[in-house]
Amino acid sequence: VADIKGSPEQGLDRLGHTLVVKGWVRTLRVQSSVTFIEVNDGSCLSNMQCVLNTDTEGYDQVESGSVATGASICVQGTVVSSPGSKQKVELKVKKILVVGKSDPSFPVQKKRVSREFLRTKAHLRPRTNTFGAVARVRNSLAYATHKFFQENGFVWVSSPIITASDCEGAGEQFCVTTLMPSSRDVVDSPVDGIPKTEDGLIDWSQDFFGKPAFLTVSGQLNAETYATALSDVYTFGPTFRAENSNTSRHLAEFWMIEPELAFADLNDDMACATAYLQYVVRYVLENCKEDMEFFNTWIEKGIIDRLSGVADKEFVQLTYTDAIELLQRTNKKFEFPVEWGCDLQSEHERYITEEAFNERPEIKAFYMRQNDDEKTVAAMDILVPRVGELIGGSQREERLEYLEDRLDQLKLNKDNYWWYLDLRRYGSVPHAGFGMGFERLVQFATGVENIRDAIPFPRTPGSAEF
Ligand code: 4AD
Ligand code: MG
Repeated sequence: VADIKGSPEQGLDRLGHTLVVKGWVRTLRVQSSVTFIEVNDGSCLSNMQCVLNTDTEGYDQVESGSVATGASICVQGTVVSSPGSKQKVELKVKKILVVGKSDPSFPVQKKRVSREFLRTKAHLRPRTNTFGAVARVRNSLAYATHKFFQENGFVWVSSPIITASDCEGAGEQFCVTTLMPSSRDVVDSPVDGIPKTEDGLIDWSQDFFGKPAFLTVSGQLNAETYATALSDVYTFGPTFRAENSNTSRHLAEFWMIEPELAFADLNDDMACATAYLQYVVRYVLENCKEDMEFFNTWIEKGIIDRLSGVADKEFVQLTYTDAIELLQRTNKKFEFPVEWGCDLQSEHERYITEEAFNERPEIKAFYMRQNDDEKTVAAMDILVPRVGELIGGSQREERLEYLEDRLDQLKLNKDNYWWYLDLRRYGSVPHAGFGMGFERLVQFATGVENIRDAIPFPRTPGSAEF
């Protein structure tokens, strides 16, 4: 259907052609002499309007009620010009076959249903206009991401999901537990199969075949090892955070893109982040026109103009100190007080991106390179309206002694980072990188307000259904 609807002629160049469309029924309208079926095959937002009459082979399936919203069908017919105002062409159906009937209880009917409701139907919500469009734009953003880095000579590195190190040092990790029935301490765990000690507690000593292991919070440290061998690299994979925050911007499982540049400083890092962001935004504006028009009308009015601005304009650069001064100067009352050294909260980010410029280092991670003032680090965030922090990055501490001191200060166990420290022993180079939460990019590019609607199957505290 996208081939027809997306062509400049919108199908007029195919008049008289025979076409087979396989998809799912969105609506059925039975009139006295003709029946209209809107069928969607997911290739684009538009449905194909199919016109049937009693002569259509298989019409008995319409009469018997087998063609209902949600049913899967296969229709064969001729492309004819449409008298309707919504489309240039329609399909005059010769033959219809119902592949899978749909029960009348199908919950995703044409009437508008709330996004909260659809979260409880995550298995069926891709059948709606909004979630179909979000899925296609998400796909295009992923494609554009690989395209950008590949065109610029970066090598994609697969970082591990199971790891013993905590990149952010914040202790927000999920533990890995082995479900294998074990010989020793396991008493019996008929319900869930998790190894338990005699007193019934979970046997953590057997986490990962007897070693502690966690789900990764970031692939950065692994990316750094490859950057100090292959130069520019990037990761693109799932990451996990055990922070118990129920907000519209946090997920327990999210995808992150983490480029790492060798022989590079913070300015190179910022230039790369800006060029990347502008590239992917431009890509969806140019390649997802129909879906973007849909978001512009139904999800966030003006999103196309806003994204066009991001693609073309220079980004405002603000130092941490200037940001703090800006926040202190305003009369606006914040819930969290602002003083130099504090971590910027969402309300502060929102003020900066949405009010101060109509359009931070936090208490920073151990790997960030210390500036000469010995107070700040070479780090940057990219904040955007509505989403807040989209990208966080830094120049990495390439000096062994500084890095060891930092680990000590933060009371992190150096033994766990021996391999990371090795990179500073053998051919260390200035290097820098950043991480972008992919779902936050999807939120930014589509206008969906809640991050739960930017990923097919959201994982948030207490929610791992589907
Ligand atoms: O700022 P963060 O924690 O930085 C890192 O993980 C670095 N290791 C990245 C690097 O330099 N390679 O996370 C980076 C980005 C954030 O800016 C945000 O977009 C996203 O990841 N993010 C989340 N997205 C969804 N849910 C969460 N719980 C997120 N936490 C971070
Ligand atoms: Mg951050």
